[in-house]
Amino acid sequence: MQGISDKDLIKNSSYINGCWHSSVTDFSVTNPANDVELIKISNAGIIETELAVKAAKDTLKLWSQKSANDRAVLLRRWFDLMMQHQDDLARILTLEQGKPLAEAKGEVAYGASFIEWFAEEGKRVYGDTIPASSSDKRIVVIKQAVGVVASITPWNFPNAMIARKAAAALAAGCTFVVRPATQTPLSALAMAELSRRAGIPSGVFNVVVGEDAHGMGEVLTQHPDVAKFTFTGSTQVGKLLLKQCATSVKKVSMELGGNAPFIVFDDADIDAAVKGAIDSKYRNAGQTCVCTNRIFVQQGVLKAFTEKFARAVSKLVVGEGLTGGVNIGPMISARAVNDVDDLVTGAIAAGAAVVLGGKKHSAGNNYYQPTVLTNVTNEMSVAVNEIFGPVSPIIAFDKEEQVLAMANATEYGLAAYFYARDIGRIWRVAEGLEFGMVGVNEGIISNAAAPFGGVKQSGNGREGSKYGLDDYLEIKYLCLGGLND
Ligand code: SIN
Repeated sequence: MQGISDKDLIKNSSYINGCWHSSVTDFSVTNPANDVELIKISNAGIIETELAVKAAKDTLKLWSQKSANDRAVLLRRWFDLMMQHQDDLARILTLEQGKPLAEAKGEVAYGASFIEWFAEEGKRVYGDTIPASSSDKRIVVIKQAVGVVASITPWNFPNAMIARKAAAALAAGCTFVVRPATQTPLSALAMAELSRRAGIPSGVFNVVVGEDAHGMGEVLTQHPDVAKFTFTGSTQVGKLLLKQCATSVKKVSMELGGNAPFIVFDDADIDAAVKGAIDSKYRNAGQTCVCTNRIFVQQGVLKAFTEKFARAVSKLVVGEGLTGGVNIGPMISARAVNDVDDLVTGAIAAGAAVVLGGKKHSAGNNYYQPTVLTNVTNEMSVAVNEIFGPVSPIIAFDKEEQVLAMANATEYGLAAYFYARDIGRIWRVAEGLEFGMVGVNEGIISNAAAPFGGVKQSGNGREGSKYGLDDYLEIKYLCLGGLND
């Protein structure tokens, strides 16, 4: 863990009720760039998770009854501290997750931006008055914090996925418990340390790190004191967690898998489309839920786009995230590399052609070559499954209605992208795509001010934006009667 200037940001145990909480056993966190152990972390389990829920419950009244302005002041301090420590946080993130340092810095700023955004938005939790059916009554609607929020967050964005949930929850007046991925707990713990320095009261933001995914997950999804559960991760795991939440009818938000189409029409600006496809596909080595998964290109521009795109992909530099000039870091594990390789070899066996890459990368166990495949069909497993790696399958199409049908032929509905100039087509396609988010002539759509979330089996609820606050608020209807003299 060299190169971190504020060593106190490196923590090795859970943060519960404002204290660092050691456990009897520990587990290793390794650097995916070289599989070398970075640190041993105290292995929390069911007991610590229950303690964290209790802490969150005990402090709920204090936190929810603070004024929105008081909460905003503390959240703003947390944001400022994250930005002041952006370099250290980014380095920690790259060490445990692998993404290039510049991208990690971007993620820290992205995560912090949710805290800044919701610090302000929490002041705008407006209620409503509704004309009543009789003159002696008044109908008033108020919004109140849901209560204790529990969450499980993924390894691909170890900072931003926590910030996006916690910022909205805390701004709404909820208290929060997160179990981050065991591959990447260090970013979460550093955020906890900065929340402490910001003066966020003990028990409001708790982080439990431990390997017992099943036991800790059961507490977080079934504990009677947890009012809301929020998850970012795969659809497969999300479905299990949803079932668990059903036993006590929790409010839930799920940000699950995707299978994003990226459509290039004949009238598109090809250079812009190439840039958008690189941005949306190769960010984080292809390991984001909104990464382009299938590139559909209209016949008229198929050759031109494929050539320019392959040329741009061939310039991407693969290597350790801390090395300057690297665009694509390691994947999270050798298993992830194998899964991607299986999809590529399966596609080749089914008739796809390799334009670029197509193999494991010589940089190490966890690296995969940036890959471009053509002659892909929408039925191949590389197009049906979420690739979660640096592989671009290109599928040719003729007509607008045909590509809309192909793009929508998936159980997922998170992000979609398309490039076109014709204004009629832009509206038709934007409205016709069955996805929660659509980038129109744009490959990067994530932003604190915008509602992030999916439809179909990509989940429910929205994160970020004014809509993101609603996920942490209950609507209460007050009926005032007997008002006549
Ligand atoms: C994700 O992969 O789930 C998050 C990506 C983003 O926020 O842009």
